[in-house]
Amino acid sequence: MKKIVVLTGAGISAESGIRTFRDSDGLWEEHRIEDVATFEAWQRNPALVLDFYNQRRKQLYEVKPNAGHIALVELEKNFDVRIITQNVDDLHEQAGSQNVLHLHGELKKVRSTIDDDLIYELKGWELKKGDLCEKGSQLRPHIVWFGEAVPMIEKAMELSAQADIFIVIGTSLNVYPAAGLVYYIKPGTPVYLIDPRAEMLSGVKNLTVIREPASTGVPALVKKLSEL
Ligand code: OAD
Repeated sequence: MKKIVVLTGAGISAESGIRTFRDSDGLWEEHRIEDVATFEAWQRNPALVLDFYNQRRKQLYEVKPNAGHIALVELEKNFDVRIITQNVDDLHEQAGSQNVLHLHGELKKVRSTIDDDLIYELKGWELKKGDLCEKGSQLRPHIVWFGEAVPMIEKAMELSAQADIFIVIGTSLNVYPAAGLVYYIKPGTPVYLIDPRAEMLSGVKNLTVIREPASTGVPALVKKLSEL
């Protein structure tokens, strides 16, 4: 079976009702990254950081996967599909995708502040000050904040290098190292980019740009690939 590696960003979840970060109504219009998405922010004002991610988590319980997520599940009938997502939502899993690697963490998980290996599923949407890990330290969102290491990047690089087909969906490719994954693709690999405001990916060959929202662009591409 041919291997398809899919790199997704906030745009694939936009039509489920989750705001992206850098579009005109994006989350970073309302919040400063340095106030809510860095380790320094967490040290300075943990209540603000907890509230920011609690609101995101609460909303995640109110939304559903859209046709874009669902079409990627369909693709598994004919291909070995590996999803690398920058998203912290679990809409790929909710849709039924089997192989999802989260580069920037997962909203529904929390982890110890003294032992990175102590990761837990949070029950409900709210993480509170005073919620402790088994070693007695405060739990934090299981999110890769700006300035922190991206533990899954090596695995993502390996996967990208194995792709027979590479698909990029709904990401502004502003954030590294995720944005650099396209440069690990083997020469000659077909690359598809689905994004209504897609910019050309400089240096990427064999590129097909599909300027459509995920809910229509992904099902159309999946149909085309399945007919190959
Ligand atoms: P961005 O908000 O930077 O980019 C969203 C992309 O989705 C843009 O290119 C939009 O044009 C596109 N888009 C919008 N609506 C769409 C739709 N209906 N269908 C398809 N595409 C659509 O989000 P990301 O690139 O995911 O990290 O951001 C990367 C990282 O920056 C995030 O993981 C997050 C953020 O800060 C952390 O918080 C660590």
